[in-house]
Amino acid sequence: MTQHTPTAAGEPGRSQVEPLVVARGVKKYFPITRGLFRQQVGVVKAVDSVDIDIRPGETFALVGESGSGKTTLGKVLARLYEPTGGTILFDGQDITRLHEGELRRLRRQIQVVFQDPTSSLNPRRRVKEILEDPLVIHGFGDARQRAQRVQELLDLVELPREFLYRYPSHLSGGQKQRVGIARALALEPKFIVLDEPTSALDVSVQAKIVALLKRLQTQLGLTYLFITHDLSLVRNMADHVGVMYLGRLVEQGPARRIFERPEHPYTNALLSCIPTVDEEELALIPEKIPLTGETPSPARVPAGCPFHPRCPKVMDVCRHIPPSFVALDGNLRVSCHLHSEGDPGRGVPAAS
Ligand SMILES: Nc1ncnc2c1ncn2[C@@H]1O[C@H](COP(=O)(O)OP(=O)(O)OP(=O)(O)O)[C@@H](O)[C@H]1O
Ligand SMILES: [Mg+2]
Repeated sequence: MTQHTPTAAGEPGRSQVEPLVVARGVKKYFPITRGLFRQQVGVVKAVDSVDIDIRPGETFALVGESGSGKTTLGKVLARLYEPTGGTILFDGQDITRLHEGELRRLRRQIQVVFQDPTSSLNPRRRVKEILEDPLVIHGFGDARQRAQRVQELLDLVELPREFLYRYPSHLSGGQKQRVGIARALALEPKFIVLDEPTSALDVSVQAKIVALLKRLQTQLGLTYLFITHDLSLVRNMADHVGVMYLGRLVEQGPARRIFERPEHPYTNALLSCIPTVDEEELALIPEKIPLTGETPSPARVPAGCPFHPRCPKVMDVCRHIPPSFVALDGNLRVSCHLHSEGDPGRGVPAAS
């Protein structure tokens, strides 16, 4: 089992801890095809030139509107998809291109928990078999050791042992998700991609699953990529936050810094949408920006800054030149012309 090195992201020590996951310039493009001969007529840039560092023991939350590329990036980092470009290092090893055998070995270390526990569990397998399958596939111990491991897994996710012989259809949504989590833990992974693991569940159940995920993280030293639409969950769970827009990470940094002082107008708009009962917290968001207009398709990404057609602070430069990343105080990185040093358009808002 990995030695857990807890990191409070954003604290001075974070940058000294070697990242577990390092992505540089990662892209995932899907071809758009048409007709009988599936002729390629375009490309969906679901993930485009993403850089990301995820430190051991932290929760890196990925947020953004539907279609912004969160699931695709999660699948690329978990190596369920091969990236179209860029490189990914996991625990110092280059996992960008791997043969089948190498990928299988990597599966022991990286797991994914999906949003919908009903479709991700085989309805014809009982809980015992669902949890045993990864152990058999990866040649874990003999039958007795596997049976013992399955019991341990049930205990870890706080399910009673009589559940072993139940089929998924006889479990509630929360219980199914606990089985999904137990299955992900079977091979003692280091890194788990949690793709909206609670969004299909009732609110009361969500809180219990979140508490379970937090306890497992501390107990087992897990590193999470936590994909969610729910920004109040991010506030509760995340050390570090990455904000995606049309396949790009437009802002990333320590969760507290981003919640207190978002720098990208898109992040600000997203945060302005969080329902909050806390007046003090509401007052922290400097200037509330409504999020208007539809998200454009990643098959037709606007020129310049991809957010410019919806941005209330758009300047002329934003329509033509893509902003590069700028590092700001508090370990924050943002890609926005409002923060570009020496930018010709800086401080000169264009008439829209
Ligand atoms: N296998 C695929 N083939 C073609 N296009 C795809 C594929 N998977 C995703 N896309 C496209 O890539 C873009 C990003 O999709 P993705 O599912 O990663 O977004 P998301 O941020 O997870 O959205 P949501 O919040 O709705 O889950 C979308 O335009 C989607 O239609
Ligand atoms: Mg998704």
